[in-house]
Amino acid sequence: MMMMEWKWLRFIRMAVMLLVLEGCRWCTTDACLEHERIALLHLKPFFNYQNQLQSWVEVKGSDCCKWERVECNTTTRRLIQLSLNSSRWFYTTDNRNLNAWYLNTSMFLPFEELKSLYLSGNAISGNLENEGFGKLSSTLSNLEILDLSENYLNDSILLSLSELSSLRYLNLSSNKFEGSGHLRGLNNLSNLKYLDLSWNRIESISNKGLNNLSNLKYLDLSFNNIESISNQGFQWLSRLTKLETLRLSGNSLKNSILLHMRNLSSLKTLSLSYNQLGGKLLHIQELNHLANLKYLDLSGNKIESISNKDGGRKLELTHLEELNLAGNHFNTSVFVSLNKLSNLKSLSIWDNGLKGSIDMKDLEAFINLRKQDMSYNELKDLVIHQDSNVSSSLEEIYLDYSTLNTNILQSIGVFASLKTLSLYHCGLIGPLPNQGWCDLKNLEVLDVSNNALEGMLPRCFSNLTSLRVLDVSRDHFQIPLSFAPFANLSNLKALLINENKMVMESSFYTSIPKFQLEVIRLPKCIASQQLSRKFPTFLYYQYDLRYVDLSHNNLSGTVPTWLLENNTKLEDLILKGNSFTGPLSLSSALISDVSSIDISENKLQGQIPTGICSTFPHLRELFLSKNALKVISHFV
Ligand SMILES: *[C@@H]1O[C@H](CO)[C@@H](O)[C@H](O)[C@H]1NC(C)=O
Ligand SMILES: *[C@@H]1O[C@H](CO)[C@@H](O)[C@H](O)[C@H]1NC(C)=O
Ligand SMILES: *[C@@H]1O[C@H](CO)[C@@H](O)[C@H](O)[C@H]1NC(C)=O
Ligand SMILES: *[C@@H]1O[C@H](CO)[C@@H](O)[C@H](O)[C@H]1NC(C)=O
Ligand SMILES: *[C@@H]1O[C@H](CO)[C@@H](O)[C@H](O)[C@H]1NC(C)=O
Ligand SMILES: *[C@@H]1O[C@H](CO)[C@@H](O)[C@H](O)[C@H]1NC(C)=O
Ligand SMILES: *[C@@H]1O[C@H](CO)[C@@H](O)[C@H](O)[C@H]1NC(C)=O
Ligand SMILES: *[C@@H]1O[C@H](CO)[C@@H](O)[C@H](O)[C@H]1NC(C)=O
Ligand SMILES: *[C@@H]1O[C@H](CO)[C@@H](O)[C@H](O)[C@H]1NC(C)=O
Ligand SMILES: *[C@@H]1O[C@H](CO)[C@@H](O)[C@H](O)[C@H]1NC(C)=O
Ligand SMILES: *[C@@H]1O[C@H](CO)[C@@H](O)[C@H](O)[C@H]1NC(C)=O
Ligand SMILES: *[C@@H]1O[C@H](CO)[C@@H](O)[C@H](O)[C@H]1NC(C)=O
Repeated sequence: MMMMEWKWLRFIRMAVMLLVLEGCRWCTTDACLEHERIALLHLKPFFNYQNQLQSWVEVKGSDCCKWERVECNTTTRRLIQLSLNSSRWFYTTDNRNLNAWYLNTSMFLPFEELKSLYLSGNAISGNLENEGFGKLSSTLSNLEILDLSENYLNDSILLSLSELSSLRYLNLSSNKFEGSGHLRGLNNLSNLKYLDLSWNRIESISNKGLNNLSNLKYLDLSFNNIESISNQGFQWLSRLTKLETLRLSGNSLKNSILLHMRNLSSLKTLSLSYNQLGGKLLHIQELNHLANLKYLDLSGNKIESISNKDGGRKLELTHLEELNLAGNHFNTSVFVSLNKLSNLKSLSIWDNGLKGSIDMKDLEAFINLRKQDMSYNELKDLVIHQDSNVSSSLEEIYLDYSTLNTNILQSIGVFASLKTLSLYHCGLIGPLPNQGWCDLKNLEVLDVSNNALEGMLPRCFSNLTSLRVLDVSRDHFQIPLSFAPFANLSNLKALLINENKMVMESSFYTSIPKFQLEVIRLPKCIASQQLSRKFPTFLYYQYDLRYVDLSHNNLSGTVPTWLLENNTKLEDLILKGNSFTGPLSLSSALISDVSSIDISENKLQGQIPTGICSTFPHLRELFLSKNALKVISHFV
């Protein structure tokens, strides 16, 4: 009897020890907390647009940490991120009215460890009464990221938001905030680093503005109606000394905004595009305080010059890499006024009405300049000096919509690093010169389309072996059917020669091209009857094509379905407006991923092949109109 008892005792003791050793595997599971799972299921009906929350199931024990749009802490198994963005349709089911609704924030209370809550794009109009965000403040003390962008929220929620003092990131972009007195509430969120208020209706930022947000690194107020940033002389902006990014585009700010920048010496990115800045911008001193600025966007204003009152002081932003002055009223003396910006890599000054010529000597100081966009001006010439310093770094030049002399191509060879040259619609006339520009051994993209260039491509052209993209469309070149001038361009991927003239060579010459094209655009090039039976032979050697346009070329014979056989990656095949005849016959072995075929306006006869859907499983568009095809009675 004693023995029995002792045995039992030993057994129970072992069981207890096992329990202790096994620990939590017995008392809990790896799954998420049951009350968080149930809370998610309560949220589901509000955010289940198009059944996006399929994995959120009402099965007891289902691990909600594995559900979509949910992220848990792997140790505590508690929710830390909930991504309910774009989870509701903006309109009522009849698509007539906005599907505005009110959020019950109490539904998030169970998620005590939540760090990130994404609720953008859900047509939220506000909170249910007494269920504002402030309710979360004491429980969700780790909440750092709150995204409420793209909803219908207005100032009435701001006071309750201001209680979420743990927030570091707050996105209120694209709502209906007006900034009446309540923006002051945001001023309480002193841990904020990122604040996005863009695309609202803010006219002014009242009282002390956001002067308390001294940790702010990123502030976006673009696309509101802000006229002035100061409030009764109080310069709140200059208190935000940690700001690195300030976006103020698309408001109604005047030049005086620059007076508020003095203290923002950490600023790296400043955007003031599309405001009411204009005339002479005299605030050189204020701008020069932004010693760390890398990116400055002043485009879309009416600025004529950047200088200080006595004209002596220049912009000296030694870290500035990108300057956008597009869409202003500068003249060609702007380059000299900026010549202390020695680190500039990109200068955009398109659409300024720059007249006459630019002396490239004026750009000599920009020894790091890589990209210069001078399109849409009234430029007539670039004065290029053979020994100029700028030539060694410049990689991209855009002069579209200028009025240039074709001679410019003879001297442009000094830009030895040039990779992109864009001379779209520049009034270039006559044949291309046979020297100078062919020295551009690094040229990858050349656009001389929409000019009046003519004749054969010069021999030196075949030296441009780095070319990847060549656009000579809408010129008057004579392109030999053999494509011999291009044959040597082993890196060529896109060749756009629409609306030039294809010609036969004087001597018979077939060359196997060194290139494998991805894009060929060749419409309206073969006009003469003599050529109409010939196919450009280089096409036989291509097997990497994705886009082929041979429309309106008077080509005859059977449809070149071999293009589909040779080029397994082909997506678009446009053969419209030729004279292809016969029935459209497809090899039974052919299966192609092509998504669009246009053979309209040809002379096809017979029936559409019945197996066409299995031959082209990814076909989205098939144009066969204006042929002589038989009406189809059954289409398999
Ligand atoms: C998960 O929770 C543990 C314990 O609270 C904490 O130490 C850890 O930092 C958390 N991890 C994450 C990614 O939040
Ligand atoms: C929701 O937001 C997260 C974080 O910004 C993003 O990665 C995700 O793509 C968004 N999802 C949808 C459906 O927009
Ligand atoms: C909000 O949600 C909580 C928790 O689900 C609930 O107790 C409360 O009644 C809701 N409030 C309203 C006004 O519906
Ligand atoms: C803000 O939105 C709430 C809820 O939709 C509405 O009742 C209130 O009138 C709005 N307030 C303003 C200033 O537009
Ligand atoms: C500001 O935050 C404090 C606590 O940090 C809070 O007591 C106060 O109510 C908040 N003020 C506003 C206007 O929300
Ligand atoms: C805020 O949200 C908008 C729209 O969802 C997004 O485009 C923007 O990048 C976000 N802002 C920040 C600072 O992340
Ligand atoms: C600014 O911050 C201080 C303390 O950091 C706080 O006492 C004050 O209420 C804040 N001001 C506003 C307008 O929130
Ligand atoms: C600039 O910052 C300093 C110190 O951070 C501050 O004392 C001063 O008032 C600020 N200037 C302006 C114009 O606000
Ligand atoms: C260019 O603009 C500056 C500043 O507005 C002006 O002083 C100068 O006369 C202008 N030069 C020309 C050639 O128009
Ligand atoms: C041009 O480059 C040379 C060598 O890099 C340098 O010595 C000279 O100062 C530069 N000239 C200008 C105007 O920057
Ligand atoms: C191509 O360049 C080489 C030197 O790199 C030169 O000798 C040759 O003449 C050039 N060819 C043509 C046709 O200009
Ligand atoms: C492409 O098709 C043509 C005509 O069938 C054939 O002569 C040529 O060898 C093919 N080229 C390749 C690369 O398969």
